[in-house]
Amino acid sequence: MTADPASQIAHLRQQINEQNYQYYVLDNPLIDDAAYDRLMTELRELEARFPALVTPDSPTQRVGAAPASHFSKVPHRQPMLSLGNAFNHEDLAAWYERVTRLLGDEQHPSFVVEPKIDGLAVTLIYEAGRFVLGATRGDGAVGEDISANLRTIKSIPLTLRPPADDSPLPTRIEVRGEVYMRTDDFDALNRRLVAAGERPVANPRNAAAGSLRQKDPQMTAERPLRFFAYALADSEGVALPADMGQWDVLQYCKALGFAVNPHSAFFEQFDAVVAYCDRWMTRRDTLDYEVDGAVIKVHNLEQQRQLGTVARDPRWAIAYKFPAREAITQLTSISINIGRTGVATPAAELAPVELGGVIVRNASLHNADYIRDRDIRVGDYVTVKRAGDVIPQVVGPVVGRRDGSEQVYQFPATCPACGSTLERIEGEAAWRCPNFGICPAQLVRRVEHFVSRGAMDIVGIGERQAELFVSRGIIRDVADLYRLTAADFEGVEGYGAKRIQNILTAIEQSKQRSLDRLLVALGIRYVGSVAAQSLAGTFGSIDSLMQATPDEIEAIDGIGPVVAKSVVDVLQRVDTRQVIEKLRTAGVTMTAPVTAAAARTSATSTLPLAGQTFVLTGTLPTLSREAAAELIQQYGGKVTTSVTRKTSYVVAGAQAGRKLTTAQQLGLAILDEADLLQLMQSSGENRVE
Ligand code: IVH
Repeated sequence: MTADPASQIAHLRQQINEQNYQYYVLDNPLIDDAAYDRLMTELRELEARFPALVTPDSPTQRVGAAPASHFSKVPHRQPMLSLGNAFNHEDLAAWYERVTRLLGDEQHPSFVVEPKIDGLAVTLIYEAGRFVLGATRGDGAVGEDISANLRTIKSIPLTLRPPADDSPLPTRIEVRGEVYMRTDDFDALNRRLVAAGERPVANPRNAAAGSLRQKDPQMTAERPLRFFAYALADSEGVALPADMGQWDVLQYCKALGFAVNPHSAFFEQFDAVVAYCDRWMTRRDTLDYEVDGAVIKVHNLEQQRQLGTVARDPRWAIAYKFPAREAITQLTSISINIGRTGVATPAAELAPVELGGVIVRNASLHNADYIRDRDIRVGDYVTVKRAGDVIPQVVGPVVGRRDGSEQVYQFPATCPACGSTLERIEGEAAWRCPNFGICPAQLVRRVEHFVSRGAMDIVGIGERQAELFVSRGIIRDVADLYRLTAADFEGVEGYGAKRIQNILTAIEQSKQRSLDRLLVALGIRYVGSVAAQSLAGTFGSIDSLMQATPDEIEAIDGIGPVVAKSVVDVLQRVDTRQVIEKLRTAGVTMTAPVTAAAARTSATSTLPLAGQTFVLTGTLPTLSREAAAELIQQYGGKVTTSVTRKTSYVVAGAQAGRKLTTAQQLGLAILDEADLLQLMQSSGENRVE
């Protein structure tokens, strides 16, 4: 290159700023990480050779400052306001009522709705297009100077983009918005903290707050923070149009190079505002970050001025709060549930607490490592989170509320149901009770599964009955169901002759269920109704399936090595074979008419995922990549490796990479593991475990 160093440096900075903007603001990366790193290295080398050319707005200077001993105070030229809350439609109607009353009949307000990001409000000051100062909200009047930390956030421009119409940049401008952390970045951060033996953070908001409060900007730089702009506080040296409204403010921020939330929307009618907010309330889980509500703002800035503020809350804006998803309550004890396959899952017993409209008494604690890594103790006050329809989970302890009486939890060494020593499978977090044959807790779960709707569908037998007969020693394996007689119900309250007869008839009728249902009922891991139908259709009888090799099973369309191995493992076991023989003796159907069933499975176009293509990226919480791919294939879907416009769904797990970014750019549907399983199950009564 022949250009002089100063123009080379200027050119590199311009290129790097542009790539940052594409990546962090537009979510539209144009070059890969390696190419970006090459540009940065080149710039660093040049700046090292010509130190006089280094300026504070160079992309190399995002992490420049030395650790601070304290943050100095910054008075806000205009106060940083907070927002009044609305919790329901009545509150919204009352707010609208007041706005229209105060504005009078002559003025019809329009509105802007923005997602209320659960992060931290900051203000950013630019002079002559350069970032000069950034501060927290503080008490609204005086904040703290966290400029060095804010500089590390790549979606905050160090220099503003010149307006397209060549109009001058303002001599001074103050942009306000929210610093936040995306949920996937938050999960990754927590995994990193746990791996380093540190305490994980309770939620993305605390993570963002904690990251901004780091004294060493290098630490902040390592935290994946982002920024959305939503307001202008103060500008000098630029003629903004007199009739400028909030919607124009957002567009202007965008033009200056800031990220503006893409789900912000403009409305003329208040009914549409309410409908839009409600829609987001139900769809909040589709976002990459946490929102705790929607902010409704009167669009017209002159009307905003007329409406004014009361105390710290503007009358021209309101936060419509979504139901809380987190609550704090006491963990009174930890119990252990033993599942169908022996997995020992700890569950938290909680002091009852209201969360999103229901009373929560129990929550998941996942596994022993989870409790240990988060140092969750019995007696702790804990944060409990309930997102969407999933089971509530304990996020972590509120350490500040400990009084010393809390007990460190000792995960039991033995199965609480049968006393066997729990075992841990290499590479898995779960402890298991290995006593498959005898453990009463496992047996109860297996009976429950055996009689369930997608399996043998025996109405009248459920958890209660399973527990009763297992505890009385009447049922020792699932086949014993077929030995039940009226006498076994003797002395059990609530069972009259008629009810007993109905149950016995249901059991008798279940002997006629098709082979694929029997295969589901046996509870083989990964074998839901779709795989069971393929297996039954291909092999025609349980006997030929029992003789099949993994290769023969894998030869079936839609069945891969993970499922095949699971089938062979279970069917080879002595206890399984004994149960099968007992079922045969009892008269349970063990064959399937090959042609009819095979015809059903070969008609893949009727399968729920037929015609859909999937791309898998990242690590899913429970399914391996192979297992997920096989499941998708079983249900008729296709798995490919590259994301294109033709991809129907991208299934993303932890540490998902560029495939996810590409999918977002293309606006494709993105699923997590739970969504995927739901998609497969929603079109049938298949349960895949
Ligand atoms: S406007 C009127 N807009 O909510 C000026 N705030 O409770 C008030 N927030 O401190 C801010 N998203 O941290 C506004 N789109 C949004 C917001 C938002 C999140 C936060 C912000 C503020 C708090 C007010």
